[in-house]
Amino acid sequence: MKRIAVLVSGGGTNLQALIDAQARGDIKNGVIAAVISSSPDAFALERAKRADIPGYVVARKDFADNQALSLALLDKLKALDIDLVVLAGFMYVLTEEFVHAFPNAILNVHPALIPAFCGEGFYGLHVHEKALAYGVKVSGATVHFVSEECDGGPVILQKAVNVREDDTPKTLQRRIMEEAEWQLLPKAVSLFCEDRLEVEGRIVHILPQKSE
Ligand code: GAR
Repeated sequence: MKRIAVLVSGGGTNLQALIDAQARGDIKNGVIAAVISSSPDAFALERAKRADIPGYVVARKDFADNQALSLALLDKLKALDIDLVVLAGFMYVLTEEFVHAFPNAILNVHPALIPAFCGEGFYGLHVHEKALAYGVKVSGATVHFVSEECDGGPVILQKAVNVREDDTPKTLQRRIMEEAEWQLLPKAVSLFCEDRLEVEGRIVHILPQKSE
């Protein structure tokens, strides 16, 4: 069984999708062992509590910079013997050292079709504001491995979602979550735990299900 830590900063609907998938038995060979929040007030912590998953706070405000935050997170993850780190609405860019400590073992969900609307400054609702302002007709979500480059790691799964004429950033955000993020993230996590993701440079190969 792979031990999964989910890093969160806010509402935690993607965490909820993982919790629900686990309850259905859809996360094969993995268990959510910890939820770590960068904010003590994140509703995601309440979701963890309700699901009997240990929740921890490593608060951004307690550290001088991202470097110090990353080191504290690393200590926690090592102490918890974590195999897979999932960034589910985690709003801080982690350091190179952090990424190297978990090579191809950190997943992130991003609310756009990378390489569009991604990188520094593209997080949360801002992503959808920018997509609407650009006038794209299709957006979506991406689950990718985390590398040193912000939103630049190998792509695992993507799903497109149509933009509607009357969309606001909020309606687009919600539809992308419902139609894409909440489906892709549990699926990618399960594929990782089943050892079905093979990374070759930028390309992620999805291996067939092993026969029982
Ligand atoms: C999600 O849309 C996620 O893709 C996005 O923040 C939201 C978090 O919602 N993440 C990023 O923008 C990271 N660059 P949640 O807390 O309800 O899961």
